[in-house]
Amino acid sequence: MTETNAEQQSNIQYAVDMSDVKKSFDGKEFVLNGIDLKIPKGKITVIIGYSGTGKSVLLKHILGLLHPTSGSIKVSGKEITSMTDEQLTKLRQDYGMLFQYAALFDDMTAIENVMFPLKEHRRDMPRSERLQIAKDRLKDSGLDPKHFNKLPAEMSGGMRKRVGLARALALDPDILIYDEPTTGLDPVLTEMVDNLIVSTHNLRKGSTSIVVSHDLYAAFRIADHVAMLDSGRVLLHGTPEDFLNSEIDLVKRFVAKGVRKELQPKNGESEEPARSTE
Ligand SMILES: Nc1ncnc2c1ncn2[C@@H]1O[C@H](COP(=O)(O)OP(=O)(O)OP(=O)(O)O)[C@@H](O)[C@H]1O
Ligand SMILES: [Mg+2]
Repeated sequence: MTETNAEQQSNIQYAVDMSDVKKSFDGKEFVLNGIDLKIPKGKITVIIGYSGTGKSVLLKHILGLLHPTSGSIKVSGKEITSMTDEQLTKLRQDYGMLFQYAALFDDMTAIENVMFPLKEHRRDMPRSERLQIAKDRLKDSGLDPKHFNKLPAEMSGGMRKRVGLARALALDPDILIYDEPTTGLDPVLTEMVDNLIVSTHNLRKGSTSIVVSHDLYAAFRIADHVAMLDSGRVLLHGTPEDFLNSEIDLVKRFVAKGVRKELQPKNGESEEPARSTE
């Protein structure tokens, strides 16, 4: 699925629209140094970049967990940089988040984990309804019902990911955010999670998925759009094809060495990048 520039410039709604966003923690160095990024609604956007380039910091700005030093961040058209804590808390209910470690509650079963956000945020909802939603979400995430009452310790890594995803979906979010969902997983599990991201996205019409990944191969497989960060800026934002055809040196190097491989930090230049991009 690709869009022409003309289409992008017309009045497409953006899930996230960041404009000249800068962030410095110490007042000297800028981790984000003028981020301009429009993340279209209804698409899967994968954010890539070497370690330490600010991907997680960028996500935390979108979530309103970090405040920019300057710049504008709009989520679904609303400026979030001027929101109160209360408004931000409410905003976060529109997000579903899945992080590298699903961080399930150890003392709760799969189904209790998924019911938890509903208990917190949908206090008026009857228990029977919460239970039904939790079951539906777990099914959407591909967990076999025979595991619904298992504790995290009794589940495999893949099962825990499914529960984490189901919990992220509990409040029916418009925007799904994944930070390194496959880092540290074996290739089989990686592919399962990648497929799950795509199937979840397709199941939820109009939802927007934002995925931070080290895995360029996965980025190309699942993304409508890819944005690459470098030195606190967006180096390139385009379709996977745009990345394959890019003449930007750093993009070429990233593409050349990216497939199925953990990427080295930018400073660790010891590894010669491959020459071919085919
Ligand atoms: N709370 C913080 N206070 C000070 N510096 C921070 C803070 N959070 C992040 N940083 C710095 O911001 C830079 C970017 O960090 P970030 O975690 O966004 O990188 P990343 O691109 O997600 O890397 P990785 O791929 O390794 O996860 C790093 O230099 C990090 O040390
Ligand atoms: Mg990170």
